[in-house]
Amino acid sequence: MSEDPLRLAVITSSPPESASGPLVTHWLARQARQYGAFRVDVVDAVEADLPAVVSPARAAAARQRLDEVAARIEAADAYVVVTAEYNHGCPASLKSVIDWHPTQWRGKPVSFVSYGGRSRGLRAVEQLRQTFAELHVATLRDGVSFADVSTHFDADGSPRDVPGAEAAAKTMFGRLVWWAVALRQARHRRPYTV
Ligand SMILES: Cc1cc2nc3c(=O)[nH]c(=O)nc-3n(C[C@H](O)[C@H](O)[C@H](O)COP(=O)(O)O)c2cc1C
Repeated sequence: MSEDPLRLAVITSSPPESASGPLVTHWLARQARQYGAFRVDVVDAVEADLPAVVSPARAAAARQRLDEVAARIEAADAYVVVTAEYNHGCPASLKSVIDWHPTQWRGKPVSFVSYGGRSRGLRAVEQLRQTFAELHVATLRDGVSFADVSTHFDADGSPRDVPGAEAAAKTMFGRLVWWAVALRQARHRRPYTV
């Protein structure tokens, strides 16, 4: 059981036309694949194009897209949420993906990679911790954050401080592996019920 590769879903909100999101997301996904412990799936909340209002009527209209995203979130053992910060909160599309999927993350760990202006997106992360607590998700202490992100990546998509960013990512992946293995074993022994 514990020898199955861990599945890591990177949940982001960064379509190609966004200025910084794709650079941060591609860098993070590359780091996760190089780390060697995960099978990585990148889920883009904007591309998922889910309805802004959570309601049965809207669900019927978006059934196929909702089912596809639900299966990918359900399949994961762990998550990294990549978030920008807009007006001290996370992007609406990211919140929408979380709100539409109240059960799939349950009993699993999540870490955060954030970016923004001087605040590094950390206020968006603190808001997301509250949301994930409501959904029975373990939010981990260690993550990666980028200040002044618009000037932080060069043309090849490398961050300004490569050693610092890579060290932070490795610490985060190490914590995620510990929690993902422990919680996967725990869920097998005793399903998490609410
Ligand atoms: C409407 C708007 C509000 C923003 N609010 C914040 C903020 O509260 N804190 C922050 O650190 N950065 C803020 N920013 C900066 C963004 O986080 C930054 O521009 C980031 O690159 C946006 O992500 P994107 O390039 O993937 O679209 C804001 C930007 C916009 C356009």
